[in-house]
Amino acid sequence: MKLTEDDIARVCRLVDELAGIQWDASKAYLIESRLPSLLRDHQCADLTDLVSKVRTNFNPQIRADFVDAITTRETLFFRDESPFEALRHKALPEIIDAKSQSTWARRLRLWSAACSSGQEPYSLGIVLRELIDDIDNWDVQILATDLSTAALASASKGVYSDFEMSRGIDPRRRDKYFHKVAGGWKICDEVRSMVSFAQRNLLQPFTNIGPFDVIFCRNVAIYFEMPVKKDLFERLAGALTQNGALFVGSSESLSGFGMRWKALHHCRSIFYQPNRESLGPVASVAATSPIARPTAAPPPSRPVTTPAASAKSAATSPTASTKPFAPTKPLATTARTPPAATPRPFAAAAPASTMKR
Ligand SMILES: C[S@@+](CC[C@H](N)C(=O)[O-])C[C@H]1O[C@@H](n2cnc3c(N)ncnc32)[C@H](O)[C@@H]1O
Repeated sequence: MKLTEDDIARVCRLVDELAGIQWDASKAYLIESRLPSLLRDHQCADLTDLVSKVRTNFNPQIRADFVDAITTRETLFFRDESPFEALRHKALPEIIDAKSQSTWARRLRLWSAACSSGQEPYSLGIVLRELIDDIDNWDVQILATDLSTAALASASKGVYSDFEMSRGIDPRRRDKYFHKVAGGWKICDEVRSMVSFAQRNLLQPFTNIGPFDVIFCRNVAIYFEMPVKKDLFERLAGALTQNGALFVGSSESLSGFGMRWKALHHCRSIFYQPNRESLGPVASVAATSPIARPTAAPPPSRPVTTPAASAKSAATSPTASTKPFAPTKPLATTARTPPAATPRPFAAAAPASTMKR
């Protein structure tokens, strides 16, 4: 593929518009390696034709394929380990203790905000199962979102190759939480049913989701430019519960964002809590963002198409955990509320003593 400066500029602009991902001429090799198959598959005469077809969105599949092509979905189970240790030994016990006297004592909401092929939300599910003895009696939901439909489809399937398993899953966890299937290892129903998947673009306002006790937004903001990053973390602060914790990637830091965030150092890791006094209410944070792109901007979020099943509801819905993420609508459909993230009341209060610390 022979690239002109204009080609590169056009593609980079579109990548930014759709995903906030910053490409420049140094990423020409990505254009050359990732886009030729799209030209072929969608009978585009050249890159100008491809860009125009993606932008006009008459064929939503081209846009979905383009987004899949531009996103880097590198991930692994228990990535960097220490954040999951800090979650297990510090953040979650404190969150659970803090809410132990409240109406929501046994309710937990987690968000894996750029979940890629699912290793991160399933790692979160495993941590919860290992921390809380009677987890099946809790109202737990892990919302896992990503922009890429390919990532979500594979995450929802929950089947991992030997190589993927070797990156973060030891034999004890493999035998406990996975079973052998053709083509790899499938996550067990008990963990799968804790997670619901939805397409969400982090550039867009977080309407109708949250608040969350824990947000993992790791290794995605590195691709965004500073004002977008800043706006994203501002909105994430508004999507957290009172004692909620935000985990970012090990090469990411919120130290440049002034007093908005408190950094908490535990288990050789850092997680963040918003400085509440410097924040407005959740809704206003989401609504007043000067940067977040309106829902009408491409590509909008789509509703959850996988079960919003808690571990408890899985017991009464055996098929829930096997339903695949199935994009049924074009990307241009309007965002709806993902049921997984809708706060639900929970009746019984529980002693925090069910935790294994
Ligand atoms: C490198 S992976 C990180 C996966 C996981 N969080 C981890 O740390 O292992 C980055 C993910 O961000 C997703 N992504 C990129 N831009 C996005 C956006 N604007 N909104 C939502 N997800 C996005 C990509 O599709 C990809 O799956």
